[in-house]
Amino acid sequence: MIQRRQILKAGVASAAFSVFPVSSSSATTSPNAKFRSAHVGVGGMGGADLSSIASHPSVEVAALCDVDSSRLQAALKKHPNAKGFADYREMMAAMGDSVDGVVVSTPDHTHAPAAMTALNAGKPVYCQKPLTHEVFEARRLREVAEKNKLVTQMGIQIHSHVVYRRAVAMIQDGVIGKVSQVHAWSGKNWGYDGQSLPAVAKVPANLQWNLWLGTAKERPFVPGVYHPGQWRKLVDFGTGTLGDMGVHIFDTPYGALDLTAPNWARTTCRQPTGVGHPSRNVVEYEFPQTKYTTKTMQWKWYDGGFAPPKSEDVGLEKGMKLPGQAALFIGEEGQMLLPHIGEPQLFPQKKFADYKRPDINGNNHYHQWVDAAMGNATASAPFAFGGPLTEALLLGVVANRFPDEKLAWDAKSLKVTNNDAANKLIKGDYRDGFKVMGL
Ligand SMILES: NC(=O)c1ccc[n+]([C@@H]2O[C@H](COP(=O)([O-])OP(=O)(O)OC[C@H]3O[C@@H](n4cnc5c(N)ncnc54)[C@H](O)[C@@H]3O)[C@@H](O)[C@H]2O)c1
Repeated sequence: MIQRRQILKAGVASAAFSVFPVSSSSATTSPNAKFRSAHVGVGGMGGADLSSIASHPSVEVAALCDVDSSRLQAALKKHPNAKGFADYREMMAAMGDSVDGVVVSTPDHTHAPAAMTALNAGKPVYCQKPLTHEVFEARRLREVAEKNKLVTQMGIQIHSHVVYRRAVAMIQDGVIGKVSQVHAWSGKNWGYDGQSLPAVAKVPANLQWNLWLGTAKERPFVPGVYHPGQWRKLVDFGTGTLGDMGVHIFDTPYGALDLTAPNWARTTCRQPTGVGHPSRNVVEYEFPQTKYTTKTMQWKWYDGGFAPPKSEDVGLEKGMKLPGQAALFIGEEGQMLLPHIGEPQLFPQKKFADYKRPDINGNNHYHQWVDAAMGNATASAPFAFGGPLTEALLLGVVANRFPDEKLAWDAKSLKVTNNDAANKLIKGDYRDGFKVMGL
């Protein structure tokens, strides 16, 4: 077992962020080696994550955990050799060395506690996007993964899709010159503008509500409001449309432009209610200069009813129909529109008619993590990438609570420097009984 652990840890030696993962040619494990996976949250996206990880030829699904027994039973039916659990803490304690990596696919507020529990146990982690619910958690997951030299991957599978990788190569190739602005949008609405929630009801027999709440404050169950999926709209559990879709759509600009931490963020939205995220937001950021940007880089996000923006307002031809979800890069020598998910388009079209697109391959994001944990590849979206990307996005989510205020950000000390109330939202409180070492 010691040998296996050493191999799993060694994978990190080459795990610095790279958009072009190394091939499996430098394999350090035998073709018969097995990777025993454990999964926290196996319904919804967790079911898709489970199938994708299980499709890797080296993977044996060893443990499944879900607070909803009907979802757990459905997953156990597909993987009858796996052990089932309702509490991820019990799973980690019971499985110990019989697990080689942990996949976290729970609602956002449980990402950090579950992922940190796995990192503390020395396990490589694949964690769904956005990496965390709070800025502080993203920083800590990244630090602990790096300190413990563990292979990690954030669940932004489109990061490894050929069109996103081609877009990165085109921007870094300088096709539109240095980039001064990115406009990005999603017409989805993961907000809730009501002042209170509907009437409470009995918790369904299949749901362990206290475990679902996890680190969050106790409250009664309300059908159709939290589980499944709807938690996204609520400030205590989800991250609104920006955290849900922005993390996918901002992934390419963030990586391609080699962005770091924003100087500031400002949101235009309704006044806060303390209950749900606003139904529509415009979030602006300024980032410091990088090799691929002008002196500063402005990033502007539009969601819900504010998306898409008018084409003429973002520097494109008047009346042009824009995709429902996309990122638009404005460069010194042209523009690149990257639909979610589609081939990058260059403007003005005539100017780029003869442009030869880089020949790029896609990659299986899930298998890449397994291969990296086994020492055979490099993860392309480790927490060293997903952490700072999530921190930047979540600063915008914090800004939703202070409409029209520019929140100045000191990333090094993890502080909003001009708003004490906003500072208090960088790190939340965990309920007694759910505190986790390192968070
Ligand atoms: N990468 C993508 O394209 C993509 C797509 C959809 C969702 N997601 C992400 O996947 C995650 C889950 O989203 P969803 O739509 O599947 O939500 P969901 O509510 O439908 O499913 C969450 C699952 O986790 C279980 N769960 C909740 N708390 C748990 C806990 N403490 N321990 C164990 N299991 C627990 C639930 O019972 C449920 O089975 C979110 O982070 C979301 O952002 C990613």
